[in-house]
Amino acid sequence: MVEKATGNVVGEAVLNEWDPDNEGCGFRISFVPGAQGRGLGTEATRLIIGYGFEKLALHRISLEVYAFNPRARRVYEKVGFVLEGVLRDALLWEGERVDAAGMSILAPEWFRHRGRPERAGHTPA
Ligand SMILES: CC(C)(COP(=O)(O)OP(=O)(O)OC[C@H]1O[C@@H](n2cnc3c(N)ncnc32)[C@H](O)[C@@H]1OP(=O)(O)O)[C@@H](O)C(=O)NCCC(=O)NCCS
Repeated sequence: MVEKATGNVVGEAVLNEWDPDNEGCGFRISFVPGAQGRGLGTEATRLIIGYGFEKLALHRISLEVYAFNPRARRVYEKVGFVLEGVLRDALLWEGERVDAAGMSILAPEWFRHRGRPERAGHTPA
């Protein structure tokens, strides 16, 4: 991702682990520290998830987010990712075991709210 205002590379947003048989893939995103907390993550997530559904005709995009990352989870929920379940003690991090939340968004959901579930009055199942 390149910030328009400065031309600086500020991070990456990636559709990965493409599963053509099931029309699915994963998603990950990461900014350099100075670019965080300014709304860019929300904007970039909307853009790439929209690209996945509208241009690539994916059906499902999924991810995992660790419990120590509420900011990332907030971004995913804002854009319409729905919690599927918790992978308990999925990570051993500096001696502590950490849960991961499994989340996904499906094409019909995307086309109902286009990355703004709150505005569309969309309530996740
Ligand atoms: C996670 C990441 C992509 C989010 O992008 P960002 O540009 O920082 O996020 P935004 O500014 O668009 O939005 C952050 C939201 O989280 C909220 N937030 C921030 N800290 C929070 C916290 N501790 N708990 C809950 N919500 C929090 C903000 O208030 C904002 O929500 P709002 O718009 O409703 O107010 C970015 O911070 C990042 O690259 N982090 C490091 C790498 C990483 O964690 N990647 C994700 C791995 S799953």
